[in-house]
Amino acid sequence: VSFWFELGFRDSPYATVPVPADAYGERMLVGRSAEIDALVNTISSTTTHAMVNGINGVGKSSLIAVASYRLRLGRGPSGPTALFLPLRHSINITKQSTSDSVRTDLVLALAQALVDYHDTLQDAGRPVPVVTDLERWLNAPLLRSHGGGASALGFGGNATRSLSVNAGEGFSRLGLANLVLEAVAACSPPDVGGGFVVTLENLELAGGPTEIRGLLEACRDPLLTTRGVRWIICGASPALRQMSNSRRLDGIVGRPITVQPLPEDLVGDVIEARVESYRTRTDPLVPVDGTCFTYLFNVARGNLRTALRYSEEYSVWAYQRDALADDDDERRAQVVAWLRARAEAEVAAASQVPMAAWLIFDQIVDTGGTLAVDMARQRELNSLEEHGLIGRTLTPTSDGFDCELTQAGWLANVARQAP
Ligand SMILES: Nc1ncnc2c1ncn2[C@@H]1O[C@H](COP(=O)(O)OP(=O)(O)O)[C@@H](O)[C@H]1O
Ligand SMILES: [Mg+2]
Repeated sequence: VSFWFELGFRDSPYATVPVPADAYGERMLVGRSAEIDALVNTISSTTTHAMVNGINGVGKSSLIAVASYRLRLGRGPSGPTALFLPLRHSINITKQSTSDSVRTDLVLALAQALVDYHDTLQDAGRPVPVVTDLERWLNAPLLRSHGGGASALGFGGNATRSLSVNAGEGFSRLGLANLVLEAVAACSPPDVGGGFVVTLENLELAGGPTEIRGLLEACRDPLLTTRGVRWIICGASPALRQMSNSRRLDGIVGRPITVQPLPEDLVGDVIEARVESYRTRTDPLVPVDGTCFTYLFNVARGNLRTALRYSEEYSVWAYQRDALADDDDERRAQVVAWLRARAEAEVAAASQVPMAAWLIFDQIVDTGGTLAVDMARQRELNSLEEHGLIGRTLTPTSDGFDCELTQAGWLANVARQAP
């Protein structure tokens, strides 16, 4: 049994996964009504695809999940006949992604969605494809070995179905991709609107602005122009802001919705909502309460995921030492002391970092966490990066580096500040 039960919870209230796309996720999500309205309106009432940007851990995936749920329920402003059908899984960009791999992932995911939503579509009087053929295709061994995409999406378990798709014929030669896209378009007649809602996640992993634009431009036809597919393109990159300036993407993608860190006065509510839903008795022992969590959130510069991770780490640490104080103030002081010790350990682990590098580190802190640093300081930057304190990319003019403090860097900074 996990120790959470002893503290009065059914599970860790500090889970770091995005909130789910259901009524429970809607209850867990704090703030964000403006962002959700903007997203729902873009998907339901414009012809452009939506873009969402914001730093890691700020809450993008969570608000997209809740917006998708509302679109599915038809709580958007569009007519009651338009169906919005969010795909079960998002499509995740990796460093290896190409427009071809994105296309394959999308076609597989849409084929699965045609199967998943078959009855919904049929009830709405849409021309649905023969799903048995699709299912057979999705379960063909050929496809399961196709880059791992099929089993990664969870189709691998149905291998007992009959497999009459000729394994010798390829994915594209069968024209299956086009058949799926045609079927998808047929599900959303032009006079009704709606469509499958697909989220493309982690666009920042494609690279810098040039690579991101290149990938989206290469995906334009037919992925971004297929009727009945509504995209939510998401990434932790300010580069997303420039995409609608590309000539090939103009009118295809909209201006991004930028997700800012939750306002400080709402951060405590994140914990309150979770405690309310996870507690097994009326008076659970909450290791990191709203006040404390707000402190961790500020150290993590608005990254909720990192603040939740600190909360969980502290809870395990304190429980193992049997050190969880009953008194609220005592416990808060203990969380602050614990974080400071963590920070000092981070600095101790970076004892090889020379003084000159720490001075640059402090400059990056003073400018709010990002700074362009001259090429002449490359050695100092190497040292900071090796110790995980900063991340960096070459500046557009290649005369230096755009540097950004990592979460480890922000943590180390706690120890560099006077207590
Ligand atoms: N508005 C919010 N209210 C409550 N919890 C949130 C909110 N936004 C995010 N979270 C939580 O914070 C963590 C990070 O959120 P996530 O959506 O994964 O961020 P991102 O996609 O921007 O990296 C998750 O555990 C999620 O449940
Ligand atoms: Mg995310």
